[in-house]
Amino acid sequence: MKNKIFEFLDLGNQPLANSYIKKKDLNKKERMYRLVVRYNNLNKLVSIKKTFSSKDMFNNEYPYRSSTSQTMSLHLKKLAQNIKKKMPTKILEIGSNDGCFIKNFDKKKTIGVEPCTNVEKITKKQKYNTYPEFWSPTLARKILKKHNKVNLIFSSNTISHIKNLDEVFEGINIILDEKGIFIIEDPSLLECLKKNTYDQFYNEHIYVFSYLSLQNALTKHNLEIFKIEELKIHGGSNRYYIKKITNKIKLHKSVKHHKYKERKFGLENLKTYIKFAKRIEYSKKKLLSIFIRCKKNNKKIIGYGATAKSVTILNYCNINNKMISYFVDTTPDKQNKYTPGTKILIKKDSNLINDKVDYAFLGAWNFKKEIFNKEKEYIKKGGKFIVHTPYPRIICK
Ligand code: TYD
Repeated sequence: MKNKIFEFLDLGNQPLANSYIKKKDLNKKERMYRLVVRYNNLNKLVSIKKTFSSKDMFNNEYPYRSSTSQTMSLHLKKLAQNIKKKMPTKILEIGSNDGCFIKNFDKKKTIGVEPCTNVEKITKKQKYNTYPEFWSPTLARKILKKHNKVNLIFSSNTISHIKNLDEVFEGINIILDEKGIFIIEDPSLLECLKKNTYDQFYNEHIYVFSYLSLQNALTKHNLEIFKIEELKIHGGSNRYYIKKITNKIKLHKSVKHHKYKERKFGLENLKTYIKFAKRIEYSKKKLLSIFIRCKKNNKKIIGYGATAKSVTILNYCNINNKMISYFVDTTPDKQNKYTPGTKILIKKDSNLINDKVDYAFLGAWNFKKEIFNKEKEYIKKGGKFIVHTPYPRIICK
């Protein structure tokens, strides 16, 4: 079969998702790009067309903190507890962010790799062994000069951010012990298509993996997925357990099961992606009409969770700062700045009831449970949320 790449979704002009704007820069021209999503029918990879260099996206101003969500902290803690039972001697994390995962382990047992120096500093201060560098075969060799091979490599929501997958897996092969395990967690393409969460596509998410595409990329490097866990985190992610092909661990039944589900849904057919794109066009119209109707009725709308994902939604659907009064977000580095493209102020917090908020657009829809718990009173008093997944609507539970 010919290696054909099909562009199936055009999400319009977009700014870089995590480039929150300082007040003094509000009048400066933003860097924009066309967000087009493609499907490769040979290796089954779904990727974005225009990419930026890692240095442009992950630098000393990176605002994202894994620890700001209780759900994420607990999720990683639970995994760490399970791993501890297996008594690994050395763990490496690629994209260790603020240490949300590695802080669950003994400092001597972990190595973190985090190129965003502003977040890397957090773990360094706590005396964790972290490298403020991008993951690469060169870095793997450099680490090997100081440490032995590792028996566990973990990477959550990071591998899909790296364009050159060959380099990623080459580095893994250098530093992973022959009997070692590599665990990747990333959003699931199957869930993205099922839930119409097109906001999984933005400049940092170069790929949204399926089992089928990830295994294809790993095969070239003699690596193999031997177990898959379907997770609720981030609106539906997969945790892939990967081994070297020479390691004879038996394949878990979850691999066959997941592969079957992906094939049955049509992840190998271009038609599936074309249909998805049609649903997204409709979703845009519907979401915008909800905002327009609410504003016509003089309702106050705010945004809840200034996520990178919501940048895609707002810019694609032409939802602007006249429709959303402000965002609230718990991340210190986002507060008192403005959302990329749409220039909506991000506040630390706000009492939604006192502030007479009628609707909150749920940017952090993936943490709905945690947020609805926090905002019980607002909901009790009639406050509602606007969501876009699985289809645009107003909800209160
Ligand atoms: P996440 O969904 O991980 O985002 P991204 O799309 O940027 O990768 O981020 C969740 C965002 O929501 C993060 O900025 C913190 C914010 N948030 C709140 O403001 N309040 C909350 O209660 C929760 C759970 C998250």
